[in-house]
Amino acid sequence: MFEHIPPYPGDPILTLNEEFQKDPRQDKVNLSIGIYLDDNGRLPVMAAVRAAEEAIGATSVPKPYLPMTGSPAYTSAVQELIFGSVVPNVATAQTLGGSGALKVGADFIRRYFPDSQVWLSDPSWENHRFIFERAGFTVNTYPYYDAETGSLKFDAMLAAIRELPAKSVLLLHACCHNPTGVDLNEAQWLAVLDAVEERGLLPFVDMAYQGFGAGIEDDAFAIREMLRRNIPAFIANSFSKNFSLYGERCGGLSLICEDQNAAQRVLGQLASVVRSNYSSPPVHGATVITQVLNTPELRAQWEAQLTTMRERMVAMRATLFQLLSEKVSNSHLDRYIQQRGMFTYTGLSAEQVDSLRHEHGVYILRSGRMCVAGLNESNVGRVAEAVTKVMQQALV
Ligand code: LMR
Repeated sequence: MFEHIPPYPGDPILTLNEEFQKDPRQDKVNLSIGIYLDDNGRLPVMAAVRAAEEAIGATSVPKPYLPMTGSPAYTSAVQELIFGSVVPNVATAQTLGGSGALKVGADFIRRYFPDSQVWLSDPSWENHRFIFERAGFTVNTYPYYDAETGSLKFDAMLAAIRELPAKSVLLLHACCHNPTGVDLNEAQWLAVLDAVEERGLLPFVDMAYQGFGAGIEDDAFAIREMLRRNIPAFIANSFSKNFSLYGERCGGLSLICEDQNAAQRVLGQLASVVRSNYSSPPVHGATVITQVLNTPELRAQWEAQLTTMRERMVAMRATLFQLLSEKVSNSHLDRYIQQRGMFTYTGLSAEQVDSLRHEHGVYILRSGRMCVAGLNESNVGRVAEAVTKVMQQALV
């Protein structure tokens, strides 16, 4: 019956992370998957999350089925966080993390815009392609990253966007671009949004790292601008990283609609997509997040800890840059401090990455993406030495 089913070659991120877990070496370092670890190399339980969970645990809340599009208190809190206020012409559904939001959005677009194709930045998060292709789309790319300079190919990007057919789905990263760490500045966003309006495109913005780039408000700049201009758009947001709640699978899909009427119809059809996939989302993580976002002291505590996390990543970038600069002279090193968020695109080749892993126990993705959020005071020296060695080997 199952003879024709081929073995799964594995996922470039999740399978590598599983291989890291199995590696018996004590001094191994995981800079592969996008998970924030604290200075002791541990996954933090945020203080505000702990407090909310204790309060919720003390009253043992019942767990009924949620509505198909999730808890209304949660979706209002999502809107307030990503748009700055609750917005009547936005339809928001609670989703299973950011990936769930992308999948619900992809199924919805496939149904109502069957002729559209999808355009991803080159490169983009590997799972963007998997999700949209599995939803039935042809997936293309637009120019984005300049490997020579480690920065944005903005002119080429804009020129490509200006050529896209109407209703093309344009996947954009709100902040902390995954995998390159290279973002648009505000002027560049405005130019892209002008092109989106001129061409009548459907932007789909993935915001998995709100608060990890420049701050909660700044990271949402493009989204707030889309709302201000009332550009029809899809926004996938995730609480995995900024609440350190990876396993709770909490996210949201928000659609900016022309008016409240359209938003109600859209929300109904999002409910239909959810029902035919997994019926309704889970309760616990959403309850915790809602409580934190709606309780002023907890929210302040959460924001303060998020700031500490962001600043720690910046500090680790600077330390690694400093250590590498002392050992190798290479203009490519600037990217360790110029790129933002969790990821740096190191420019290391797949062979160098393999050597980092096999000879030094340092795991980064074969694309060269390094998760700087896994660096800490105890491992950064070893990582710098390992990276130096593989860079020098390449020169021999
Ligand atoms: C990553 O890019 O490493 C994270 O977003 C985790 C994932 O699901 O790929």
